[in-house]
Amino acid sequence: MFFPQLKNINAEISLAGDKSVSHRAVIFASMAKGTSEIENCSAGEDVKSTIECFKNLGVKIEKSNNNLIIHGVGRFGFKPPLKSLYAGNSGTTARLLAGLLATQKFNSTITGDSSLSIRPMKRLLPPLSLLGGNLKLSNSDTLPLEIYSSNKLHHGRYFSSTPSAQVKSAFLLSALNIDEISSYIETVPTRNHTEIMLDLNLQKIEPGVEIFVSSINYPVEGYFKIPGDISSAAFFIVLAILIPSSTIKISGVLLNPSRIAFIEILKEMGASIEVINKESLCNEISGDIIVRSSVLKNVRIKEEIISSIIDEIPILAVAGAFAEGEFLITGASELRVKESDRIESICKNFINAGMDVEIFQDGFRIKGRYKAIKEVNFQSFGDHRIAMAFAVYCLVNEKGGFVDDIDSSNISNPGFLQIISTFY
Ligand code: S3P
Repeated sequence: MFFPQLKNINAEISLAGDKSVSHRAVIFASMAKGTSEIENCSAGEDVKSTIECFKNLGVKIEKSNNNLIIHGVGRFGFKPPLKSLYAGNSGTTARLLAGLLATQKFNSTITGDSSLSIRPMKRLLPPLSLLGGNLKLSNSDTLPLEIYSSNKLHHGRYFSSTPSAQVKSAFLLSALNIDEISSYIETVPTRNHTEIMLDLNLQKIEPGVEIFVSSINYPVEGYFKIPGDISSAAFFIVLAILIPSSTIKISGVLLNPSRIAFIEILKEMGASIEVINKESLCNEISGDIIVRSSVLKNVRIKEEIISSIIDEIPILAVAGAFAEGEFLITGASELRVKESDRIESICKNFINAGMDVEIFQDGFRIKGRYKAIKEVNFQSFGDHRIAMAFAVYCLVNEKGGFVDDIDSSNISNPGFLQIISTFY
């Protein structure tokens, strides 16, 4: 699809619910006994995958006035699925479900699309087998994942070596079916929505935080109002910064501190970003963001914060390309195992645009302030965040540009194109 350059933006937008929080709301509402309602659930393909999986586990899920009504089945109320549970493109669906199913009294299998089927799943095995779970991956340690009912379940204390919110959540979900207290020690902080939504006890220890969980924390039914998706907001934030004479207000977005490190980086780069009207939704902080066009200068991005900005690196790199100085990312080898190999995807696109790029195993370096005049041609690599990040590049570029397969943005933000169309 061709995106002509945008002249200026003066808009007020709101976004569908945060993807990470929506997944968890669907999961907890399905687990709880009784009826829950979810307002502003993400309409993306990933959350649809989670919903389909729970329908196949016997949960009745329906729509009412744009809200989701979920008739949760309660502890041990899931039905053995009649077929494999298909997680589509969604790592969160596959990994969180693996945790939940590892302590059920039936066998199940999780599969995924071609991208998810080459992503690493072995990282799930140590924490889940510590609790007695019996799981088997394909010979290449990828999906399909077979999960067997185990009669050896017990509590455990797990020291995490891979910073991953999905692996952490898989362990916590598994431990919800065990009466004795288990704990998960996290040394590098990752997004903490599971802990927040289950209201888990935490203790600061050296080095990191220990999270405690048992069946006492099993979710109960409720009303979930999901704040707007902060990772989807990132694309519009960078767009408004880079298009001269622009202002965007994004209302009611998630402002969980583990998700907004990219805002701090953009501010350090010189961006004008203001947060107002903070309130609590789903136990999470939300608020309105006002962004104004600004001139950016690249700053040092510390390796310690990579796990807090992992999903925003593609769009931060686009911001970096239009900023003064060089944009450098290191310590981010995890990018290689996302929906695409994001180091390759980002760098191939920048090289295509004629930029100076240096690629490392764990990151890349680009020279900023690139004044592209020619029309650019980008690939999405079937990856929603690459598609949206490079659409933003085209919208800023003087001669515009193409992004193939922009529909991959439907994975997290089906409203992306519609919102962009209101800016012309
Ligand atoms: C997610 C965790 C992150 C993130 C993903 C969503 C989640 O992955 O990249 O898009 O909802 O738990 P990690 O498990 O690598 O932290």
